[in-house]
Amino acid sequence: MTDFAGNQYIIEIVYLIASALFILSLKWMSSPSTARHGVWAGEIGMVLAIAGTLLHHGIVDYKWIVIALVLGTGIGIPLGFVQMTAVPQRTALSHAFGALCVTLVGTAEFYLRTPNVPRFMMAVLSMEVILGSLTFTGSLMAAGKLQELLPQRPLTYKGQNFVNLALLAIAVAIAIRLVQHPGARALFPAMVGIPLVFGVLMVVPIGGADMPTVISLLNSYAGLSAAAMGFVLDSKLLIIAGALDGSSGFILSVIMSKAMNRSFTNVLFGAFGQVQASPAAGTEAKTVRSATAEEAAAILAAANQVIVVPGYGMAVAQAQHKVRELYDALTKRGVTVRFAIHPVAGRMPGHMNVLLAEADIPYDKLFDMEDINGDFPQTDVALVIGANDVTNPAARTDTASPIYGMPILDVDKARTVMVIKRSMSPGFAGIDNPLYYLDRTLMLFGDAKTFVNDIVRELGGGGRS
Ligand code: TAP
Repeated sequence: MTDFAGNQYIIEIVYLIASALFILSLKWMSSPSTARHGVWAGEIGMVLAIAGTLLHHGIVDYKWIVIALVLGTGIGIPLGFVQMTAVPQRTALSHAFGALCVTLVGTAEFYLRTPNVPRFMMAVLSMEVILGSLTFTGSLMAAGKLQELLPQRPLTYKGQNFVNLALLAIAVAIAIRLVQHPGARALFPAMVGIPLVFGVLMVVPIGGADMPTVISLLNSYAGLSAAAMGFVLDSKLLIIAGALDGSSGFILSVIMSKAMNRSFTNVLFGAFGQVQASPAAGTEAKTVRSATAEEAAAILAAANQVIVVPGYGMAVAQAQHKVRELYDALTKRGVTVRFAIHPVAGRMPGHMNVLLAEADIPYDKLFDMEDINGDFPQTDVALVIGANDVTNPAARTDTASPIYGMPILDVDKARTVMVIKRSMSPGFAGIDNPLYYLDRTLMLFGDAKTFVNDIVRELGGGGRS
């Protein structure tokens, strides 16, 4: 066997192992109990994929590769340390970088290969750069909106959808022309430039509330463009990894849309969040009952069954470790404590699972919405910690509500409801929550971490003043 053939053989084996690890990674990440293995499998798979690529015979000089590795590592490490609440925008940035890379590789390949590009190759190359370019600018816009560097509200104008779709149609028409005449090099910059503009315009009319869904959709575009790049570069690993990325991103978008009872078209073209309902409207005459930490502790201590419903506010307050102390203090007293997880609680998929896992809450105490909703009527206390929209009964009854039809956690059916939040401010959807005005509801006003700490202290647990 020659050196070259030997190298190629090793590369193929390494790629095969990397592909298997990527598949296992996705499988393991679908459950909190195996998610850590999933992260490791993904990381090892990526290291192997990079190592295999570095063995490639086509590399004649490592200088630029080393510079790129150092630069990439320098940018990547600080990005890994962002706050949990900033992970969605960080993820969007990763997609933007990946999509930029795909677009640049596609552009280089086009100019290296034309005019001798077979039709199939030109078709996948066009798909690669169109999806890559629109994902690049779309992801940057999504990150900007989530980081509030750009206005979160949807910006709309008449004929917007027509303009956007027309732009996309023009880019596709150019791609078809290039498939027929790959030598028409002058058209190529337009095939990259138009989707760049489309990416911006596509995200402009989408409100901040829908950004996580948009990001996972862009994730799937980035995956598809990487798979297309795999065909261009004849890399089976890229095809597999891109297809996994594309399909998992798409499935995640579907899950999120379903959990919000929204269609894709509504997410992409619905301009959700444009009209922010005033939280104060119609609330003047209504009253709420509030309680102190001492009173809340007494009610919890007397309960048999407690369901904790965490939400975005728990993440903001970083209250998960205090929630663990509360769990310990209550279970020590013989109270059964379970956690109800809404699929879109927080700001990213699995947000609550990750935080509760970080605080070592046993996985078997975490229940998905459909598995626990039927238990609320037999529950003594539903303790809502920083959740709002996912508990809003208006989603069931108020046909005019923007969240009408969204499945919610039925906390209002519990015997007593206690809600920890700082004020009567609305949640992400910007709407009032009738739950707070029920006779059985007690508002526990305060920061989630501080309030839970106070309850733990009253229960005689580890709470510190
Ligand atoms: P939200 O409805 O956003 O409510 C969070 C509540 O937390 C707020 O009402 C806020 O009230 C309270 N809060 C904020 N900081 C707090 C703190 N330090 N201490 C205590 N409370 C605090 O959250 P949710 O119920 O988790 O719902 C998630 C929303 O995001 C849904 O509308 C969902 O559709 C949307 N969304 C989620 C996702 C994913 S994947 N998770 C994707 C797209 C959209 P105060 O200001 O009064 O404290």
